[in-house]
Amino acid sequence: MKDNQVYIFDTTLRDGEQVPGCQLNTDEKVRIAISLESLGVDVIEAGFPVSSPGDFNSVIEISKAVQNPVICALTRANKKDIDCAADALQYARRKRIHTGIGSSDIHIQHKFRSNRDQVLEQGVMAVAYAKTKCEDVEFYAEDAGRADRHFLRRMVEAVIKAGATVINIPDTTGYCLPEEYGELIRFLSEETQGIQNVILSCHCHNDLGLATANAVAGVRNGARQVECTVNGIGERAGNTSLEEIVMILESHKSLDLRTHIRTQEICAVSKLVSRLMHMNVQPNKAIVGKNAFAHSSGIHQDGVLKHAGTYEIIDPSTVGAGKSSIVLSARSGRAALNHHLKTLGYSFTPEELTLIYQQFLTLADSTKEITTDHLRRLAENHKLPA
Ligand code: KIV
Ligand code: ZN
Repeated sequence: MKDNQVYIFDTTLRDGEQVPGCQLNTDEKVRIAISLESLGVDVIEAGFPVSSPGDFNSVIEISKAVQNPVICALTRANKKDIDCAADALQYARRKRIHTGIGSSDIHIQHKFRSNRDQVLEQGVMAVAYAKTKCEDVEFYAEDAGRADRHFLRRMVEAVIKAGATVINIPDTTGYCLPEEYGELIRFLSEETQGIQNVILSCHCHNDLGLATANAVAGVRNGARQVECTVNGIGERAGNTSLEEIVMILESHKSLDLRTHIRTQEICAVSKLVSRLMHMNVQPNKAIVGKNAFAHSSGIHQDGVLKHAGTYEIIDPSTVGAGKSSIVLSARSGRAALNHHLKTLGYSFTPEELTLIYQQFLTLADSTKEITTDHLRRLAENHKLPA
C-alpha cells in the first residue's frame, strides 16, 4: 500500500440505493457503474446480492461490464449470504466480499439478542468462510462508532487473523464527532495486532451532518479507504459524499493524500446519478450544487470579477462544472451588471450605467430571476436625461 494513497470505495449502488423511492434497475446500475469506472473509483460496491434477485443480477451484470475497479458485494455474517455474493461475483475480474456484524452493545443485545463473544465468533466464521470463496475480504464492524473500543479492537484482531484484508469501521448512526472518530481510527491503527497488514476503511453516515468531516478525520489518523456515495446519498441523511472527500484531499495539498479520481468527471457523474435516481441535488450542495460556483452578492461579484481567487477555492472546471457564474439579483452590484451587459455586446459610459443600474434594481426587486431578455430590454430602452 502506498502510504499517501486513499482508496475510494463507492457505495452509491448499495448504501446509496437504499434511499426510499430511488431504486434503480439493472441497466441503470450498469450505466452508473461504467461512469464510476471512468471517474476512477477503486472499488464499486455493486449491491447486496441476497437481498433480491434484481440486486443479484445487477452484481452479475456490473461484474461483466466493468474491468478496472474491484467489484464488491455485501453480505451479513452467514454462509447463505456469502455463497450468494460469491455466485454474483463470479464474472468479476477483481472481486471482494464485504461481510460483517454489529459491534456495539446496543446492536449485540437488541438486534442480535446475543453477547459479545458469540457475535465475535460469528464474525470470524464469516470472514474465514468468505476467504474460501474470495481472496479479498472486507469486514465491517457495524456501529463501530458506538462500540466499546476494547471489544472492537478484539474483534478486529480476530477477523484479521481469520483473513480479512480490509477493515471497515462504520459510524453507522452518524453519531461520532470528528475528533472521536479520528481518535478511534488512531487507537485501532496503533493498538491492534496485524493492523499493518490490512487497510482501514471509514464508512460514515451523515445524521449530524458530519459524515465528510469524520471521513477526513479518519484518513488523517491512518485510514486509507473512504466509503462514500455520489452526491452524498444514502440511508437516512446519507453517507460521506464522494465529491466532497475527493476535493478536500485535492484542495489541501498539505495533507499529502491523494486519490485516483479524475475530478473533471465529477459533475457529469453527479448529474447522471441525480437523473437516474430522480433525486435532485440541493442547490447549495458543495462541489456539485447548482449554486456551488454562483456568485450573487455585489461585494462577492466585484471581487470575483477582479480575481476569481477572492471568493473561489476551487476552479469549477477542475470538477467539470464549466465556469463560475455571476447571478443577477437585487443584491448584485454595478460591476456584475456591467459584466453581463458587456457579454451581450453593450458598452455604456459610467453615467449611462448608473441609470440602467437604477432601472435594473427596480426590476430585480420585483422578479425572481433576471434573464438575458430583461437585460437586452433594459439596455435598448435606456434613456439618458437630456
Ligand atoms: O452503515 C453501515 O454500517 C453499513 C454497513 C453495512 C457497512 O452500511
Ligand atoms: Zn452505511
